[in-house]
This record gives sequence, structure tokens and C-alpha cells, in this order.
Amino acid sequence: MIPGYAPTVRIGIMGAGSIGCYVGGKLLAHGAVEQVVFVGRQRLADELASHGLRVKDFDEPAREVAAGDLEFATSVEALADCDAVLVCVKSAQTEGVGRELAEVLSPSCTVASFQNGMRNPVILREAGIARVVPSVVGFNVVSRGKGLFHRAMSGPLMLQADAQDALPLALKRGAHEVETHDDLAPHQWTKLIVNLNNAVSALSGAPTRALLLSPTFRRIIAAVVGEAVAVLRVAKIKPASLRGVPIGFMPRVLRLPTPIVRLVTRAQMRVDPEARSSMWEDLTRKRTTEVDFLNGEVVRLADQVGAQAPINRRIVELVHEAEAAAAGPPNIDAEALVRALGVG
Ligand SMILES: NC(=O)c1ccc[n+]([C@@H]2O[C@H](COP(=O)([O-])OP(=O)(O)OC[C@H]3O[C@@H](n4cnc5c(N)ncnc54)[C@H](OP(=O)(O)O)[C@@H]3O)[C@@H](O)[C@H]2O)c1
Repeated sequence: MIPGYAPTVRIGIMGAGSIGCYVGGKLLAHGAVEQVVFVGRQRLADELASHGLRVKDFDEPAREVAAGDLEFATSVEALADCDAVLVCVKSAQTEGVGRELAEVLSPSCTVASFQNGMRNPVILREAGIARVVPSVVGFNVVSRGKGLFHRAMSGPLMLQADAQDALPLALKRGAHEVETHDDLAPHQWTKLIVNLNNAVSALSGAPTRALLLSPTFRRIIAAVVGEAVAVLRVAKIKPASLRGVPIGFMPRVLRLPTPIVRLVTRAQMRVDPEARSSMWEDLTRKRTTEVDFLNGEVVRLADQVGAQAPINRRIVELVHEAEAAAAGPPNIDAEALVRALGVG
């Protein structure tokens, strides 16, 4: 705990998994708040009871929270007294979780959607939650087992909030890099565009760094992203720049020779060689993916504004086929994926 500082915020984590355990674990490890209540599955309760919770950034030493210092529950009632709840479930579960939270939380509780995609905050509001804060998680976390959650990519937490609000202040005290914005939609779109490569990772089985260093995979991602940027242009939506670079440049950067991409990537962010998309993890665990909330959102917008999105549409179909087959990532190689998506 920070000497002389009396933390007062009670934080709930709805959906203790990679993001929830990492964010909540850091809050606890840094003594940033009075209480963190994790709500998740029994299998994780057992894992944390045996090993405690450890959070790790890149190759820094892990910070540890002992099992006895963790509050873990398997149902939302445990969050009733929280000042803020971070919703960290996958998008397919937002609606159900939102309805359960609306039943138990006080109207003054701030509920932040720490999820990818555009629609989760809307779904939470429609479920009856009064104070919803859209947020963007700008980094990746990998669950390594035995209570260890490893952050494998740099990037901030972004919140649609005032910098002096209790939640961003608490997150900063927890050693999180936090940005606040009046309107997060341009940043949510940018994150969505960056996340369009998740499906390429999920379909191919390749780690993020391997995708970025393969000219053929970059050609595929450039086509997927270029199509999305064109749809947003038709819809007159202006996504935010990514670390100072307009997102519309991304396809051009991806088409550059590999040594230049390696340099640009290194200057922009750290990517752990093991970092893979959470959609790859979903297919591996035979769970419903978030493809409808990512590539599917591009298709939906294209249909709304009369634009074309054939590559993203085909990606949605291929991921749904892989979900239905329930045989893990289909491991489609780069050349086969070029043909399957009709990338020119
Ligand atoms: N992982 C990343 O690196 C990363 C990075 C940026 C953004 N995100 C976004 O962050 C969000 C969370 O991703 P994640 O990777 O942290 O997901 P995750 O590891 O799957 O964690 C979510 C956890 O919540 C559990 N859960 C779902 N519904 C529940 C319920 N009603 N009660 C109790 N537990 C419940 C899930 O269990 P089941 O699996 O049994 O349903 C799972 O263990 C997603 O929108 C994702 O796109 C993730």
C-alpha cells in the first residue's frame, strides 16, 4: 500500500480471466484500492486458491497476491457493494452478465466495459445499468496457468471518463498506464481495426509477431484492414491515430518490406514472441469467439451504409465454421488463406 494513502474504492471484476485477473491483480499488488472482488469460474477459484495470483509485465519479476488475500466468488451477488465493476467477460456473455449486474448493483456504481468491440457498452446500458464507461484495453495478457497472468504487449487502458474520476485514479495507483478521453469511440474503432488481425491469427494459429514478420500474412491483414478503413470512410467515421500514426496508413505500412516493418513495429510497441490473439485462445478452448463484434462489426456497418466488405464477411464465415467444428484453430497456412479470402 502507498504509505499515508487510504484507498477507498471497492472494485469488482466481473469475469476473472486474463484481463480481469491482470488488472485486478495489479490493483491489489500495489495496494491501490480498499478491496477487489473477483467473480469468475470455480476452476479459476481453485487455481488461485492453490497458487495465489501473480501478475507479470514482460520480463519483469512477477508481483504476487497470496491466496489468503484474494476475494473470489462465482456469482455476481458478491459485487453488490462495489463502487466500480470492470466487465471482463467475452462479448458473447455481456448481455447475460449485464442483466445479472443490473439486478444487484447500486445505480451509482460505475460499470466499465473492459472489452473489445463497439457494442458492449451499449449492451450493458440496454441491460439496465445506469453508469457505463466505455473503455479500451490497449495491451494483451496471456494466462500461463498456476495463477500467473503475463502482460505480453505494451499499451494503455483508455477510459471515457474525467482524469479525476475515482476509477482512472485507482487504476493509476495500481501502476496501470491510463488515458482518459471525452469520447472514446474513435479509439474503440482504432482498437477494433487493429484487432481485425485476431481472426487471421485464430484461423492460421500463428503468433502475432510471426504474423507481422510474414509478408503473405501482412498482405492478408492489409487487405482486411484496408477494407475496414474504406467502410469507415463511407460511414464518415474518423478513427483515432495509433501512437501518432493515422490508422489509414496501416495497410501501407504492412505492405512495406519485412526489415522496415520490423523497425516500425519495434518503435511502436513491444510484442512478446508468445503473444497470440484471444480469438485463437477461444478456438483452442472451443468457446464462441468475438468475431461478430470485430470483423462482424465492419460487415454490419458496410451493410448499413451500402459499402462492400467481402473479405471481412468471409473471415466471419470461416471463424464460425471453425467454432462449429469445435476442433481448435484450423491452422490454415498463409497461401491457403489468401485463396480462401480472395485477397488480390
Ligand atoms: N486477453 C487479452 O489479451 C485481451 C486484450 C485486450 C482486450 N481483451 C478483451 O477483454 C475481454 C476479456 O477477455 P479475456 O481474454 O480476459 O477473457 P477470458 O480470459 O475468457 O476471461 C473471462 C472469464 O470470465 C468468465 N465468465 C464469463 N461469464 C461468467 C459469469 N457469468 N460468471 C463468472 N465468470 C464468468 C469466463 O469463463 P468461461 O470461459 O467459462 O466463460 C472466463 O474465465 C474481451 O472482450 C477481450 O476481447 C482481451
